[in-house]
Amino acid sequence: MTNFLFDFNINEIPTPCFVLDEKLLIQNLEKLNYVQKSTGVKILCALKGYAMWSTFPLVRKYLTGATASSYHEALLCYEEMKSPAHLCCPIYIDTDYDKILEISSHITFNSLTQYERYYPKALSKGLKIAIRINPEYSDSPAALYNPCIPGSRLGVRRDKLGDTLPKGVTGLHFHSLCESDSHALENTLKAITEKFDSLLKQIEWFNMGGGHHITRKDYDVEHLIQVLMDFKAQYPNIQDIYLEPGEAVGWQTGYLVSKIYDIIENQGIYILMVDTSISAHMPDCIEMPYKPVVLGATDYIQGTKRYRIGGMTCLAGDFVGDYSFENDPQIGDYIIFNDMIHYTMVKTTTFNGINLPSIGIIKEDRTFQLVKSFGYHDYKYRLS
Ligand SMILES: Cc1ncc(COP(=O)(O)O)c(C=O)c1O
Repeated sequence: MTNFLFDFNINEIPTPCFVLDEKLLIQNLEKLNYVQKSTGVKILCALKGYAMWSTFPLVRKYLTGATASSYHEALLCYEEMKSPAHLCCPIYIDTDYDKILEISSHITFNSLTQYERYYPKALSKGLKIAIRINPEYSDSPAALYNPCIPGSRLGVRRDKLGDTLPKGVTGLHFHSLCESDSHALENTLKAITEKFDSLLKQIEWFNMGGGHHITRKDYDVEHLIQVLMDFKAQYPNIQDIYLEPGEAVGWQTGYLVSKIYDIIENQGIYILMVDTSISAHMPDCIEMPYKPVVLGATDYIQGTKRYRIGGMTCLAGDFVGDYSFENDPQIGDYIIFNDMIHYTMVKTTTFNGINLPSIGIIKEDRTFQLVKSFGYHDYKYRLS
C-alpha cells in the first residue's frame, strides 16, 4: 500500500483529477511579482503553458495580464484574465482578425508578409505593433523547442529587416528560450544586441518571450534581475519590457491523481494499469519525451521490483517507466504524477474515448474544491 503524507484528504479527490495546490501557485506568483517589482519589467502569463482559468482571479492579482497565440486564447484572456491580450500568433487569419483586434492591446507579427497584410487595421484600432525576430541563437535543449533551427518558420532573421523599423512598428519580440536559466537569457540578449542593436534603439517596447524558468528552485532570480536592469540601462528608449512565461506560472504546483485498476506481470515487469492515459492526458511525456515524477517512486533501481505505469488507451506506447516503488503498489492505490498543471493540462485529448481528468484545487485552508468534471458530451461534441 502506498502512503502519502498530505495535509489534505486525498480520499476526497475523484480520479483521474488534475489537482492544483493554491499555496504553491501563490508561491510562484509571488516570485514572479518580485521580479516585476524589482525591475519594472512586466510579466504576462502565456496561456499555452498555463490556462487553468478558475485561478485567473488569483493570477491577475500578481501578473500584468496574459499572452495569446490564437483567437481562443485571446478570448480566454479577455473574458477570464479581464485584460486585453498580447498577441503573438504564427499567422493571423481573416475569419478571426477583426474579432481578435477588438480584445487585444499588443500584436506581434511572425513574418513581414503577415505584417504587410494585417498591420493597417491593427494600427487603425490603436494596437501596439511588433515584429517577432529570430535571434539566430538559442540554448534550447531540444530541436522541438528551438525556433532558431535552420529553415525555422518562427521569427524574422536580421538580414530580412532593414535599418529602420517598418511603418507602425514600435516593438520587437523574441521567443527562443525553453526551461532556461538566467544565463541563457543573458547569452541570448548578447546575441540579439550584437545583431539587432540599431533596431533596439528605435523601439518603445520589447517582449522577451517565454521559457524563463523563474520559479524553479535553482533559478538565480537575483541574476535575472541584474540581466534585466543591465539591458534597461543599455536601452533607455525602451519603456516597457515584457516576459511571458507559461510553464513557470504552473511549475510544480500540483498533480495528476490516478488510481490503479489492474497490475499485469509480463517478463518480470509489473505494469500498473491506471485510470488515466499517458497519451491522452500527458502527451508531452511521449512528445518531448520525458518521464514524469511519480510520488513514492524513483527511477528503476537494479535489483528491485520493476514497475511500468500503463494508460487506459489501446495505444501500445501508452506507458511510462521504469520505476521502483518504496512500497509495492496494490490495486486501488493512488498513482500520483507530479508537476502536471502546466502544458499537460492544456494539451489533454479525449483520444480513445477516454474521459478527461477532472480539475480541482486544494485551497489555502487545505480543503479540496472540485472545479470541473467532464463526460461523454465533451468527447462527442469534439466530433460529429
Ligand atoms: C511566443 C511564446 N511565448 C511564450 C511561450 C511560453 O513558454 P514557456 O511556457 O516555456 O515559458 C511560448 C511557448 O511556446 C511561446 O511560443
